Amino acid sequence: MYTVKNNTWAFKSVSGEGWILVVGSGLHKNKGVGVLQGANHKNKKEGKMSKVLVVYYSFEGHTKKIAEKISQNLNADILEVKPKNEKKSSGFSKFLWGGSQVVMKKSPELEEISIDFSQYDEIYLGTPIWAWSFAPPIRTLFEKGYIKGKKINLFYTHGGGPGKAEERIREEVQKENTFGKAIEFLDKDIKNNEEIVIKKLYEWIEK
Ligand SMILES: Cc1cc2nc3c(=O)[nH]c(=O)nc-3n(C[C@H](O)[C@H](O)[C@H](O)COP(=O)(O)O)c2cc1C
Repeated sequence: MYTVKNNTWAFKSVSGEGWILVVGSGLHKNKGVGVLQGANHKNKKEGKMSKVLVVYYSFEGHTKKIAEKISQNLNADILEVKPKNEKKSSGFSKFLWGGSQVVMKKSPELEEISIDFSQYDEIYLGTPIWAWSFAPPIRTLFEKGYIKGKKINLFYTHGGGPGKAEERIREEVQKENTFGKAIEFLDKDIKNNEEIVIKKLYEWIEK
């Protein structure tokens, strides 16, 4: 069992990672739809020719915060992906639903994506960790062929127990892409230690 302060959740693995039980509180759903926010297509770093896109999914807003900072720093386009029928409910049922989606390797249908991924060479891909893996909408991106032949830099946020998530995501990425670099953040640090988080993020971007 695992618990996290301020957003209490717990999970128990009954057989390996086959079943997730999470108790949550204080959840809220982000408003708005997946949009491209009209940033410059070019990476502002001198001499860097690749076009950069920041793509992310975020349920509670932590990953979104990081995504926005990356996009601002690189002057890169940004796309938030959203499942068409995401549950509006909060708390227990959402955690249960989310965890089981991961375990069953579901790839939910996404709201329309109106950008052309072929314009971009490099992608900063962001996901919250769900059940020691990436969130289901990210699986959809892989399955539908949006993320193919790219250089992928991964950023992910979690509650303190990511397990082997990074390894799993790397494996998925490397099926049809090149894996660049990765960075992780604790949800509570994003909430409470923004300065430290941003410093760490910007240093990583510069690497
Ligand atoms: C369904 C579900 C499953 C989760 N599973 C994990 C987990 O396995 N390990 C972990 O450290 N955090 C887990 N969390 C916590 C989130 O990864 C963490 O709060 C993250 O920062 C949320 O990102 P977001 O605000 O962008 O949605 C889970 C959260 C949800 C909703």
